[in-house]
Amino acid sequence: MPVSGEVFISGAKNAALPIMAAAVMCESAGLENCPRLSDTETAAEIIRAFGLECEIYKNTAKIKQGKKSGFAISPELCGKMRSSILFAAPAAQNFGKVVLCAPGGCRLGERPIDMHLEVLKKMGAEIFVSDKKIEIEARHGFSGADIKLKFPSVGATETAVMAGAAAKGRTHIHSPALEPEIEDLCAFLNSAGADISFGEVIEIKGCGGMLGHAEHRIMPDRIETGTYLTAAAITGGELFIRDTAPDKLEYVIKLLEDMGCIIKCGADSIYIDAPKNTINPKEIFTAPYPLFPTDMQPQFTALAAVSHGDCKIHENIFEGRYRHIPQLCAMGADIEKYGEREFIVHGLGHGLKSAAVEASDLRCGAALILAAISAKSGSSIIKNGEYVLRGYEDICTKLADIGIKAEYTEQPFGKTPV
Ligand code: EPZ
Repeated sequence: MPVSGEVFISGAKNAALPIMAAAVMCESAGLENCPRLSDTETAAEIIRAFGLECEIYKNTAKIKQGKKSGFAISPELCGKMRSSILFAAPAAQNFGKVVLCAPGGCRLGERPIDMHLEVLKKMGAEIFVSDKKIEIEARHGFSGADIKLKFPSVGATETAVMAGAAAKGRTHIHSPALEPEIEDLCAFLNSAGADISFGEVIEIKGCGGMLGHAEHRIMPDRIETGTYLTAAAITGGELFIRDTAPDKLEYVIKLLEDMGCIIKCGADSIYIDAPKNTINPKEIFTAPYPLFPTDMQPQFTALAAVSHGDCKIHENIFEGRYRHIPQLCAMGADIEKYGEREFIVHGLGHGLKSAAVEASDLRCGAALILAAISAKSGSSIIKNGEYVLRGYEDICTKLADIGIKAEYTEQPFGKTPV
């Protein structure tokens, strides 16, 4: 059934998480538009475990220094999300040392943290890795350095930005990731007294210690925005999307327009009117910002499955981001995986079938919800629905607001009937 109505976009998960981590090395912080997600709750638990105060009321987070009670992140908390690694630099700055283990989070491939550790070492930390834990010591804080990343890693860039902001001396980060969420992190740190200029080379004049107080409004979530735009495209619906930032999603908007959607953008809103059937591009490649975001690939794959024509999809960021394919095929999609990182979607030109399927990560879950709402009849069950709650605030309410009945229940496996 075509979706229709209004969606209000929440704060960006991938900005809120590094900013909450950076707050650990700030005197205090007030964050507006902080999304209420299981990942931001996990970040709050990590902050409290360090002995800082962290309260989240509605969409405002208040974080401030307290009685430092520890510098370790428990294996259980590390295992909950990849972003636990983002606490390494700020915690080492604040406590002189941090102990954590390899981060968990969405299984999208190996997801090593070698680049984070190389950055911290280059900026003066001592690192001790055993099979179970990673100890990072920076008893005298960090020293500025010239950082050359072998790949524009979002997380490693954020680690370098945070360490550089507190370091003694200057830091230059060459070939950084330029995702908008990193720019938002820099804006937060600058409001806490840092001196960062964001660009092709990120230049930082370190303040040589802890930062001050910061008030900051988290930027809108561009991937949530892209997901709801895709909900309109996959059902031939019409949506008004509010409280968003169209300028941070230009590639996805252009792609949907090329597929036949009518899209009008305001300063903080997007109107989309999708045709009954969209037309696939011949080929699409995921790449670092400002090109096609990997976090939109599963959702786009679901759209390609119901659109007209074949589309070759190249996933160039995560070698394991394809677990949504067999699930989409179980809903009737015609997708052929070939090579380690490519697959061909043979667009059906009509919706998929309702089915009982299984989410394996956050964006896979989002893709399965989109596939479910493309079905002409019936309802779908999506097991492990809790993955979706990691990155989509109030998703069942927002779907209801646009005409989709979805319910999350804590049944065994966390089924999410849609
Ligand atoms: C961030 O993950 C996002 N997560 C991801 O969003 C996003 O998909 C990704 O950036 C790419 O845009 C958050 O911001 C919390 P990377 P991150 O470091 O930082 C390799 C979502 O769905 N790599 O840019 O982990 C890595 O294995 C999530 O919201 C190393 O080899 O991504 C991957 O192949 C999923 N060594 C590539 O770089 C390292 O030390 C890109 O990873 C670090 C990364």
